Amino acid sequence: MSDTAQRDELKRLAAEQAVDLVRPGMVVGLGVGSTAIHAIRRIGALLASGDLHDIVGVPCALRVEEEARRLGIPLTTLEDPAQIDLTIDGADEVDPQLNLIKGGGAALLREKIVAQSSLREVIIVDEAKLSPQLGTRFFVPVEVVPFGWSAQARWITTLGAEVRLRRQADGAPLITDQGNYLLDCHFGPINDLETLAVQLSVRAGVVEHGLFLGMATDLIVAGADGIRHIQK
Ligand code: A5P
Repeated sequence: MSDTAQRDELKRLAAEQAVDLVRPGMVVGLGVGSTAIHAIRRIGALLASGDLHDIVGVPCALRVEEEARRLGIPLTTLEDPAQIDLTIDGADEVDPQLNLIKGGGAALLREKIVAQSSLREVIIVDEAKLSPQLGTRFFVPVEVVPFGWSAQARWITTLGAEVRLRRQADGAPLITDQGNYLLDCHFGPINDLETLAVQLSVRAGVVEHGLFLGMATDLIVAGADGIRHIQK
């Protein structure tokens, strides 16, 4: 099996363990990415076979909404349920305190809104995402409004990052589901996550950032030695 296929298998195993937590009657947040899609497919398969029933999903991205509809998963919006019972989502980097970097899949804004509305935020990863300190393995995606974006990019540079506007294959800026741009901010290992999160949050033009601090309640990690479920 190739490295990529092995890693995908680990993602699938973590996703399926997370789906075991889904119970009839739940409102389930549906995350984004190559790991979360395994959970969505599993939920679709269980609904189709009748082994799961009476759940509704809240998708974190338009492309997830399309896939969930295709799989026959009933959907709702945050306007309808008061609370999401459980969200299953991936992450780009996870530290030992279960702080996360997210947004590699360009969906951090909706993902964070859904995470904040969830009783339980279950993060599923393969072990390559584990890190001693956030910023070591991945950049911090920052969603900004298009107006004045380069001013935000220059300002984030003064915080110590190398900043790149995320682009599509044709070179045009990538546009998020909310019509914004993404700045991929390479800080290197981040010593003070809370301070950086506040600095980014209070800046006009910054819509949201990919630091998810204290939001994950559960981490399911699949690795060569098996699956670990860590709960906060
Ligand atoms: C989406 O914006 C991200 O937060 C994803 O959850 C993250 O990029 C993980 O994606 P993979 O499971 O594809 O690595």
